[in-house]
Amino acid sequence: MTVNTPEELEKMRIAGRLAAEVLEFIAPYVQPGVSTAEIDRICHEYMVDTQKTVPAPLNYQGFPKSICTSVNDVVCHGIPSDKKILKDGDIINIDITVIKDGYHGDTSEMFHVGTPQPHAERLINITLECLYKGIAEVKPGARLGDIGHVIQRHAEANYYSVVREYCGHGIGTVFHEEPQVLHYGQRGTGLELKEGMIFTIEPMINAGKRHVKLNPKDGWTVTTKDGRLSAQFEHMIVVTKDGVEVLTARSNEPFFRKTA
Ligand code: MF3
Ligand code: CO
Ligand code: CO
Repeated sequence: MTVNTPEELEKMRIAGRLAAEVLEFIAPYVQPGVSTAEIDRICHEYMVDTQKTVPAPLNYQGFPKSICTSVNDVVCHGIPSDKKILKDGDIINIDITVIKDGYHGDTSEMFHVGTPQPHAERLINITLECLYKGIAEVKPGARLGDIGHVIQRHAEANYYSVVREYCGHGIGTVFHEEPQVLHYGQRGTGLELKEGMIFTIEPMINAGKRHVKLNPKDGWTVTTKDGRLSAQFEHMIVVTKDGVEVLTARSNEPFFRKTA
C-alpha cells in the first residue's frame, strides 16, 4: 500500500516491529533436536497470547500453520511439522507475518542450527548482503528494476542464482498486493518509487541452479530442483522523503532505529 497519513504509517511501523520481535523471541529456540512444529507452536503462542497479533499465514489460502519454516533445500513456504526435527548444521528460514490492528508486518531471517557449516554461512551472508544492497537502492525516483538489478548482480558475482518464481510484494491491510518486487532485473526499468510506498524485499538465493519445484502433495513446499541449499531474508520497507525506513529491523541491524 501507499501510506498517506502519519497514522497509517505508525500502524505499519507497529506491525513491522512486532513481526521483527517474533524473530528475536524465537532465535534461542532454534537448536538441534527441536521440531519445526514446536517452533511454530512457540511463535503462535507468543503472537496470540503476548502480542495479541494474528498470525497471517494461518488459513491463508489454505496454509495450515502460523509461520513458514524452510530448511536447507526448501526455498520458501515450508510447513512446520512434528516430523521435521532440526539437526546440527541445518539452516532454516523462519518467515513471520503478523496482523495488528488490521495492518500486516512481514519479515524473515535465516538461522544456523548448532554449528554453522562454512558453505552455508557464506550463502547466508551473501543473501543478507543482497537484501541490504536492494534496500540501499530505495528512494523516491528510483525504480523497482534498480533493486532487482543489484540483488541479481551480487548473487551471481558470488556464483549463486536468484529464484524467479517468487518475489517481494506490496503490503498493508492486504498481505500480498501490487507491486511485484522482482529480485532480478535491469537498472532504470520498472515502477518508479514514490514516498509512502510500502513493500517487501525478500530475495531467495540458491547455492546451485535457480530452478525450483513445488511439492505436489502439500501444494506449498518449494524446494530447489538440484537439491542444493537456498537462503532468504525479508524486510518490509517504506519509501521516505529522502530514502528508506526498514519497518522490520531487528535490534542488531544497522538501520534499527529506537523509537519512543
Ligand atoms: N510470508 C510469506 C511472504 O513473505 C508468505 C507466506 S504465505 C503462506 O510473502 F501462506 F505460506 F504463509
Ligand atoms: Co513477504
Ligand atoms: Co514473509
